[in-house]
Order: sequence, then structure tokens, then C-alpha cells
Amino acid sequence: MTPTAATPASPEAPAGGPRQAAPKHIAIEAMRPAQLDEVMAIDAECYPIPWSRDVYQAELSRTGDRLYLVARLASSDNRIVGHGGVAFEEGESHITTVTVAPHWRGRGIGARLLLALVLAASRRNASLVLEVAADNPAAQALYRRFGLAPVGIHRGYYADMGLSPDAVVMRADNIGHPDYANRLINIAVELDCP
Ligand SMILES: CC(C)(COP(=O)(O)OP(=O)(O)OC[C@H]1O[C@@H](n2cnc3c(N)ncnc32)[C@H](O)[C@@H]1OP(=O)(O)O)[C@@H](O)C(=O)NCCC(=O)NCCS
Repeated sequence: MTPTAATPASPEAPAGGPRQAAPKHIAIEAMRPAQLDEVMAIDAECYPIPWSRDVYQAELSRTGDRLYLVARLASSDNRIVGHGGVAFEEGESHITTVTVAPHWRGRGIGARLLLALVLAASRRNASLVLEVAADNPAAQALYRRFGLAPVGIHRGYYADMGLSPDAVVMRADNIGHPDYANRLINIAVELDCP
């Protein structure tokens, strides 16, 4: 997906911005079809051409080779504040999306989602790959934290989606290795994950 700039904060949401305290009681759990309205509302704030309901339903139906997760505020109104997905492909896993609602960014929610996705990926494949818009430093920084390194450019990858047509391909290998497991443990500790 191609991100757009963040939109103005809603009155009930805490102010966003990097390195704020993570909200307590964030639940990371499997995305359900009944949650698609909330998920797609977040996407509508974040992407010029969001995934359609059909795309999400098709992805969610592939229970054998897809994992989609939501981040939910478990302590207040149960609202969904982010989501992400991974495709388990032949020989490698592919992060398909990680998205956090604009007002909730900078609080470790994207990292928590990615941690859960990468953990699942590390049980399925030795390699992890993704594409990220070339002009999206926040996402690239998040991915670097998980050991993903740039390995190439897909020119025009996002050409149909409005902004920033080029994608950086990022990749991590040996994600089943104990060294990588240690990286994930350190991230979990930093995030104060249960
Ligand atoms: C990318 C995205 C998912 C990050 O979510 P988030 O909840 O804000 O991320 P976190 O708070 O967990 O931050 C994790 C790391 O990301 C990086 N990061 C996050 N926000 C950043 C920013 N504004 N500038 C630079 N790096 C940033 C940092 O490395 C950060 O780690 P640190 O806090 O230890 O420095 C979020 O910005 C988003 O939804 N963007 C729009 C959608 C998108 O671009 N998705 C990626 C598609 S490939």
C-alpha cells in the first residue's frame, strides 16, 4: 500500500508523535471479517487507493497461507488502531501491510504488530521480504529495526497508486536463526510486550 500524509487528530484520540508511551492493554489478535469496517476506515485515512473489501475478504479467506492481525485497545472502547498482514509464500514470507491510525503512531503499535507478524513468519520461512515506498522513512526505519535491509528498488511499483511510484525492496534472511530470535526478544523487551 502507499501511505499518504497523516490527517488531523480526532478530538478523543491522544496526541500522536514519535516515542510516546505505548497505550496499556493493546491486544494483538487475528483480524475478523466483522472488523473490516474499522480496518478499512483506518486505510481510508492512510492510503490514496486503499484495499477494497473484496481484497480483504479474499486475503482473510486464505487461512492456510495468510495471517492478518489487528491492534485493539483492549481497555477502553475496543477500537482498532492498527493492522498488518503477512503472506507465507514459497520459500519466503512477505509482509503485505502494516498500518497504524495516524493519531496512534509513534507509540510502538506498528512495532508490536510487526513483531507478531515476523514471529509467525520466522516459524514458516527462513526469509522475509517486503516493498515499502521509497519516500516513507518512518516505515523503513521500523523495518530496519527488525533487521530488514534494502536489497533493491522496484521502479514504478506504486505507479498506479498516486504517490511515490518507486518501492524499496527490503529483506531479512535467516529469520529462523537463534540470533534473529534474540533480536525479536530484545524488541519485545523494549516494547514491554507480555
Ligand atoms: C509505518 C507505521 C506503521 C509505523 O507505525 P508506528 O506505530 O508509528 O510505529 P512505532 O511507534 O512502533 O515505531 C517503530 C519504529 O518505527 C520508526 N518510526 C516510527 N515513526 C517514525 C517517524 N515518524 N520517523 C522516523 N522513524 C519512525 C522508528 O524506528 C520506530 O522505532 P523507535 O521508536 O524505537 O525509534 C505508521 O507510520 C503507518 O501506519 N504509516 C502509514 C502506513 C505505512 O506507511 N505503512 C507501511 C507500508 S509498507
